[in-house]
Amino acid sequence: LRPLLFNFIFLKMESLEVVRPELVDFKGVWMTHYFTDNWENVQNFQARPDDILIATYPKAGTTWVSYILDLLYFGQTSPERQTSMPIYLRVPFLEIAIPTIPTGKEVADELSTSPRLIKTHFPVQFVPKSFWEQNCRMIYVARNAKDNMVSYFHFDRMNSVQPVPGDWNNYFQRFLEGKNLYGSWYDHVGGWWEKTKTCSKIHYMFYEDMVEDTGREIDKLCQFLGLSAEAEEKKRVAHQAQFDSMKKNSMANYSTLPVLDFKISPFMRKGKVGDWKNHFTVAQNEEFDEDYKKKMKDPTLQFRTEI
Ligand code: A3P
Repeated sequence: LRPLLFNFIFLKMESLEVVRPELVDFKGVWMTHYFTDNWENVQNFQARPDDILIATYPKAGTTWVSYILDLLYFGQTSPERQTSMPIYLRVPFLEIAIPTIPTGKEVADELSTSPRLIKTHFPVQFVPKSFWEQNCRMIYVARNAKDNMVSYFHFDRMNSVQPVPGDWNNYFQRFLEGKNLYGSWYDHVGGWWEKTKTCSKIHYMFYEDMVEDTGREIDKLCQFLGLSAEAEEKKRVAHQAQFDSMKKNSMANYSTLPVLDFKISPFMRKGKVGDWKNHFTVAQNEEFDEDYKKKMKDPTLQFRTEI
């Protein structure tokens, strides 16, 4: 993985041919070309039966769960991974197609360990068919819409390959219209939830539950994956994956990725449930709740906006 890592970290922002992209309606979902240019290759991705797909709407806790899974699988067997491999090389991003940055397939092809942990933000209908054919296990992490929106806003501000976010008020309206990269939050969390009703290979989990009791959620993950980690080991993983530890850890905090501007906002920003209260006005909160009632039709899918 060394050459690939060099490709990432020795890139200077100025040498990257990236510009803020426009949103385009791609097969009914708002996308940018950085995540669709590689569409055919991505759709032909050959999943292996033991691949584990980590799927989320952006900013729902992808990195946190990826890091936990990486520690559960490789924390003891490959300790050097913890000190020399950034999380984006341990867990390839399936659909990424940013010029000069290695694609998800290139990173996945370099991995000599198994199982491969693969990350995607695709809505469920975009998942390449080999993942279903190979009966792969999938982990979906969902986060309440209010905090998800706030986190996405700050991410769009600091990430030079995301669409221009505009100011908070504009962003708020756009989120309600579902006009974000990867489309409407409602369609995303709802589409994956619906799929769990017919597919037992999906473990659907919530960011808020992780914040409330990380150890309990690690137990559930182990059960789903058939992992028999010792209690001590699980405790160690929960400890290493705490927000403050990950924030300080350059292999987990994305500080080595040149397209992100940490002067604007850190990637590991707050890691809390309820930060929306510091952003939403009273009027925005009322508007949001009204809209939520109309759009969130399935009473079996429940979110907590505070814990
Ligand atoms: P905030 O912006 O609200 O802080 P993703 O990995 O899907 O991009 O999600 C990023 C969000 O998850 C950020 O939310 C980040 O701080 C939060 N996060 C990452 N690691 C975390 C951890 N160990 N504990 C709590 N939150 C974490």
